[in-house]
Amino acid sequence: MAEGPDGEGPNAAQIAYWNSQSCAGWLTEHERLDALFAPLTEAALAAAAPYPGERAADVGCGAGATVLALARAVGPGGGVLGLDVSERLVARARERIAEAGLDATARVELADAALRPFAAEADLLFSRFGVMFFADPVAAFANLRRALRPEGRMAFVAWRPLAENPWFRLPVEAAREHLPPSTDPPPEPCAPGPFAFDDLERVRGILAAAGWRGVEIAPHDPMMRLAPAAGAVAAARDAAAVGPLARALAGAGEEERRRAVDAVAEALRAHDGPGGVVLPGAVWLVSARP
Ligand SMILES: C[S@@+](CC[C@H](N)C(=O)[O-])C[C@H]1O[C@@H](n2cnc3c(N)ncnc32)[C@H](O)[C@@H]1O
Repeated sequence: MAEGPDGEGPNAAQIAYWNSQSCAGWLTEHERLDALFAPLTEAALAAAAPYPGERAADVGCGAGATVLALARAVGPGGGVLGLDVSERLVARARERIAEAGLDATARVELADAALRPFAAEADLLFSRFGVMFFADPVAAFANLRRALRPEGRMAFVAWRPLAENPWFRLPVEAAREHLPPSTDPPPEPCAPGPFAFDDLERVRGILAAAGWRGVEIAPHDPMMRLAPAAGAVAAARDAAAVGPLARALAGAGEEERRRAVDAVAEALRAHDGPGGVVLPGAVWLVSARP
């Protein structure tokens, strides 16, 4: 790679994963995901409280929705640096910054945030679901601490356990009998992944060991609107396009996939009402000082 993360480092497997076809949904579906995540994004940004003139960094910024939100909040007198290891997501984030006319305020770098050298100049370190993928989270968070000025702060949002996130769990459970047998070994507990930070005490331990102080962790329970009313089929197709069900269906044939989507749509119909197809979600809002 001409720019960006070293494919040989401790996060090589995650870097390969986030650059693979398995993650195509994060690119093609980013508008839908941004709408789905809107309530928790609002809560995470409120906790981060960016204000005009500040310098912010957005770790694992993906297609850049929160880079844009932070750039608008800090204004032309401030600055935002997005960091991500996915070439295609970084490219999309850059396009969106240009489309929004925010080039003077925001930029995105292809970099492994766990290893990138930082000067202690940011006021705010922010992340929406971008900090659960480090092979050595203590070392990564020690490095991220070096990005902040001494008076700076960190605020990120991470998923609580799968059991508390039926919007995530239900599609996989409903599709289970139609899924091809998995060739992957079962993941190690706490392995990098969307639920690596689901245990509050583990998160506290990681941050304390990495030198963070004043750690506060609050639960937040957003309602996840998967589709408009009468949209169970669309929501089932969406679930098959990105996330754990998409991963489980990676080796599926057309017929297997169709049966899985039908089973998910059937299960989602029970949650389809006048307000749309809605299921509960559960996240941690984490904040700390360097
Ligand atoms: C679950 S996605 C979230 C993306 C985005 N923050 C959002 O909410 O739409 C996780 C992101 O973290 C990025 N990522 C994973 N490991 C990373 C690392 N070591 N350094 C920087 N970004 C990383 C992935 O490429 C991916 O874009």
